[in-house]
Amino acid sequence: MSAKCFIALVQTPESRALRHAFFGERAASKIPDVPADTPVREIRQVAVIGAGTMGGGIAMNFVNAGIPVTLLETKQEALERGLATIRGNYEASVKKGKLTAEALEARMALITPTLSYDDLKHADLIVEAVFEELGVKEQVFRRLDEVAKPGAILASNTSTLDVNRIAAFTKRPQDVVSMHFFSTANVMKLLEVVRGKETAKDVLATVMKLAKQIRKTAVVSGVCDGFIGNRMIEQYIRQALFMLEEGAQVDRAIEKFGFAMGPFRMSDLAGNDIGWAIRKRRYQEQPDLHYSKIADRLCETGRFGQKTGGCYDYVAGDRTARPSKLVDEMIVAYSKEVNTERRKIRDDEIVERLVFALVNEGAKILEEGIASKASDIDMVYLTGYGFPLHRGGPMLYADTVGLYNVERAIRRYAAQPNGDAWQLAASIAELAAAGRGFNG
Ligand SMILES: NC(=O)c1ccc[n+]([C@@H]2O[C@H](COP(=O)([O-])OP(=O)(O)OC[C@H]3O[C@@H](n4cnc5c(N)ncnc54)[C@H](O)[C@@H]3O)[C@@H](O)[C@H]2O)c1
Repeated sequence: MSAKCFIALVQTPESRALRHAFFGERAASKIPDVPADTPVREIRQVAVIGAGTMGGGIAMNFVNAGIPVTLLETKQEALERGLATIRGNYEASVKKGKLTAEALEARMALITPTLSYDDLKHADLIVEAVFEELGVKEQVFRRLDEVAKPGAILASNTSTLDVNRIAAFTKRPQDVVSMHFFSTANVMKLLEVVRGKETAKDVLATVMKLAKQIRKTAVVSGVCDGFIGNRMIEQYIRQALFMLEEGAQVDRAIEKFGFAMGPFRMSDLAGNDIGWAIRKRRYQEQPDLHYSKIADRLCETGRFGQKTGGCYDYVAGDRTARPSKLVDEMIVAYSKEVNTERRKIRDDEIVERLVFALVNEGAKILEEGIASKASDIDMVYLTGYGFPLHRGGPMLYADTVGLYNVERAIRRYAAQPNGDAWQLAASIAELAAAGRGFNG
């Protein structure tokens, strides 16, 4: 390649994005107030509580790195089901030639199933992945406080609950942290490490080091509803729902931008009931919050996703999303009911409203110190949410577009119907006025 060619390429936004992701991954492991020489605790034995969807995948991560895992369940059937799923996953790897039959057996041998908390007393780290109910978490953490050895790290995989409240169930809140794995836990790169107000620095340093050992990209988040990733995605989905109501074909536009999957295909895959449960909670906590109720209507008819039909239709055994006449009719009827004028929405508006919703919430997350740097937010989105790598994550993308332009677009959308969802982050206006970006 000629020098001229190199210089031309290195100046492209794509090149900048890839370099940003490379350095962002390394920067994520550095926590401003946790010095690099902070001593770490030794993790030789791990225990995982709950062998469901997440627990099984979490256990596999440690086993794959050669760390023995004790897997605890409440009932023998649940334990056997969990073990069978883990074995099935490894068998699939054997079939694909990625793992030998001996390695499969060696990995299974590293898992000690149990129904007894007494078997957790040697664990250096205990990761809890039981039902997402505070009462169940309380039961588990009180019990862990009784049996875990001094200095053991107690981690929760909660998606939504307050880590400080969970920590308060124990007499050792300094040892409590959240390790938020993403589904599918043995595959997804992202690990959000949620830092409680009392989490000890050496606990954080240990978890960040361990994350590398199990080949995850760990990003530290402060405590807030949804942490970094899910707090931002809620605003993205909120915009997606408004645009559906206003007449847009949302998924196609954002997939063209480079997302692995648009919000509605993603929701059908994850299960629409997950978002529904979160929205129901929102309606109670913040009754004035304006939401389009179109997705709730789908859920009320039992359209929960790929298995039952969701935002799209599916045929048995095939995950191809097919446009649904029924859903289209429901959306049109809903628009009429709420007096929303349907119009043709251009792809660039769809992309801006979705991506700038992420950017605006990301800016607030930075203002509040929930994330310590913009590149951390980008790493969350690149490794956990299918944001296109060549665009470098939402915050870098905003810098590339220019915050002056981001601010103007947000102000414009705020003046449109459904515009009340936009509360411009103060830092966007400040940085734009100073001619700066999130990344310096
Ligand atoms: N599913 C996801 O996509 C996802 C993603 C990130 C985080 N999470 C979080 O992970 C946790 C687990 O979610 P899941 O989807 O794996 O749920 P799940 O229902 O698939 O599994 C939970 C398992 O915990 C077991 N369990 C319940 N109470 C127990 C107890 N007291 N002691 C031991 N085992 C107990 C159950 O028998 C079940 O097997 C939740 O906190 C959830 O919010 C889930």
